[in-house]
Amino acid sequence: MEFWSMMMITVTVAVVGGGMVMVKGAMRKAHMWWQERELGEERRRRLPPGDMGWPLIGNMWTFLRSFKSRDPDSFITYFVNRFGRIGIYKAFMFGSPTIMATTPEVCKVVLMDDEKFIPGWPKATCELIGKKSFIGITHEEHKRLRRLTSTPINGHEALSTYLKFIEDTVIVTLEKWASMGEIQFLTELRRFTFRIIMHIFLSSESDPIMESLERVYTDLNYGMRAMAINLPGFAYHRALKARKKLVAVLQSILDERRSMKRGKPPREGKDMMDALLEVKDENGRKLDDEEIIDVLIMYLNAGHESSGHITMWATVFLQEHPDCYRLAKLEQEEIRRNKPPMQKGLTLKDVRQMEYLSKVIDETLRLVNISFVAFRQATTDVEINNYIIPKGWKVQVWYRNVHMDHEVYPDPKEFKPSRWDGVTPKVGTFLPFGGGSRLCPGNDLAKLEISVFLHYFLLDYKLERLNPESPVRYLPHPRPKDNCMARITKPSATSMKAEHISTSDNGSSHSR
Ligand code: HEM
Repeated sequence: MEFWSMMMITVTVAVVGGGMVMVKGAMRKAHMWWQERELGEERRRRLPPGDMGWPLIGNMWTFLRSFKSRDPDSFITYFVNRFGRIGIYKAFMFGSPTIMATTPEVCKVVLMDDEKFIPGWPKATCELIGKKSFIGITHEEHKRLRRLTSTPINGHEALSTYLKFIEDTVIVTLEKWASMGEIQFLTELRRFTFRIIMHIFLSSESDPIMESLERVYTDLNYGMRAMAINLPGFAYHRALKARKKLVAVLQSILDERRSMKRGKPPREGKDMMDALLEVKDENGRKLDDEEIIDVLIMYLNAGHESSGHITMWATVFLQEHPDCYRLAKLEQEEIRRNKPPMQKGLTLKDVRQMEYLSKVIDETLRLVNISFVAFRQATTDVEINNYIIPKGWKVQVWYRNVHMDHEVYPDPKEFKPSRWDGVTPKVGTFLPFGGGSRLCPGNDLAKLEISVFLHYFLLDYKLERLNPESPVRYLPHPRPKDNCMARITKPSATSMKAEHISTSDNGSSHSR
């Protein structure tokens, strides 16, 4: 090709390419202007720095790309690299202008102020979990229902009541898995934690009902962090169908319970469903079916998904870190050895003595970040660090970023239970269960389930993953793509004894 033809082509490409860049820039600017148009000059000037992305989709494309890659943290890193570690940025997420809080200091301010920040979950989450669940009701109603439902789950008395059931379930379940050959370890663990939360809320249901309900929850969860696109083939569409099924099943259980109760004195051994049926507000009003069902859908979901995932990751991390595994096993052997001869199972005192295991669980919670972000909405203009969060804007509390911030946790991607030696985390720096009035009401129950499971697992079982290199998927929660295909084996006591015992753990990189 002649020199001049080449030049013409090069110049045309440059002009068209440059033009495209300018058009893109103009579109993004117009989008930002449109979203901020009602704020007025002064408030607009005081917004935190940020990037509102593209018209309609905002930053969702970048967010999803990061969370579908191996490096989900790249989403927030982009803001930090561009605007500095100021902990507060503007963005456009899930269809709304949003302020993202990413450092402990800023997250703490948002979590602790219930008047200025109310729940502000995306449309998909509200529709799927239910408008009458904790994320949709008034502040007063939330306080009342929370009081009613959290004491029977998390108090000392409640935990000692559930301990025996949890323990029996762990023993039977591990035996069963060891005879099953290849299993999806995560799926089985979710069934295990579902059985426990079903026991607490609905006394119990038959195995087939329980398994089919748990499967429906899987679909519900996939839609929760998705865009609210109600078209066949989209996660949200499948999740809406799942919600319908859950409502139908829970409604039939509720109808049965109401007809059983009619004219009869209260049953002995009440579960949470009974408590919800009986509770009255100060005016004597009882909860209607929709309210009870939404609270149940929320609790049954929150009460098994996260604990199932964390139990899986804690087991996997221990298997990947032989030094930590030995320390954890040694501690559990000592607890078994020190049990009085007449004591059959574990007591809460035994569980409290599992100091190293507690560090393993905390480190897993930090590293895995099951709830990577929480959603709020500002009820009024709020000033933080001289920036303004405008009234009505959504606010995201980035728990994940707090836990992966190397200024808070050196080598944040390393699994290192020893980082918790003698450490009480500063307020706002460790938020696996959230904080403030929305602190997870199942935190102690979750830790109890995980500890009891690991106690029996470490003493007698081993995990053999079939695809240890299986890539990790981060949405809706971090999990191996193959759901942790594995064999659970029960090696003989003699071969276990031969294991060498060391006294320190070495970290290695495992961000999840
Ligand atoms: C390892 C397990 C668990 C993790 C990591 C976890 C995490 C969380 C987090 C971060 C929040 C706060 C969300 C926010 O800031 O808005 C939360 C709330 C909640 N969790 Fe958990 N959770 C776990 C287990 C459980 C269990 C076992 C239950 C039930 C017994 C439960 C029930 C709830 C409920 C009902 C809420 C809403 C609280 C409210 O809005 O007042 N969670 N959880």
